[in-house]
Amino acid sequence: MKEYNPEELIKAARKARNFARAKYSNFRVGAAIITDEGEVFTGCNIESSSYSMTICAERVALTKALSEGKERFKALSIVAKDGAFCPPCGACRQLLFDYAPDIDIVLSDGNDYQIFKLRDLLPHAFDDSNLGEK
Ligand code: THU
Repeated sequence: MKEYNPEELIKAARKARNFARAKYSNFRVGAAIITDEGEVFTGCNIESSSYSMTICAERVALTKALSEGKERFKALSIVAKDGAFCPPCGACRQLLFDYAPDIDIVLSDGNDYQIFKLRDLLPHAFDDSNLGEK
């Protein structure tokens, strides 16, 4: 399993942020997820006039990778406004936990970065084990 370079992953997220479709909130977000093999998939937030249909950058990156058959992930980076870290929302934490419970979350404020374990950001998570017997 290859290691990943947090700064490279942040760079990819920053590039993806340029494509954000955020005309309702003007809050532009970019994300990049790296597989165990070192392949990177990026995403940006995509907003809808029916606001609740909006998709976060993290879920765009994750679903792009999943829909290409990728199964194992090392890290996901998130970039939003310069000067502020943007932690993933609750919905993204859940979907990420379902498919990548051991992933690192790399937050950048445009200057510094911080790395968290998703497990620490979503303690006592709901998952398969809670569904019980079919
Ligand atoms: N957003 C993301 O893309 N990721 C996050 O982690 C937080 C929020 C988006 C959703 C919406 O388009 C805008 O930011 C404001 O909430």
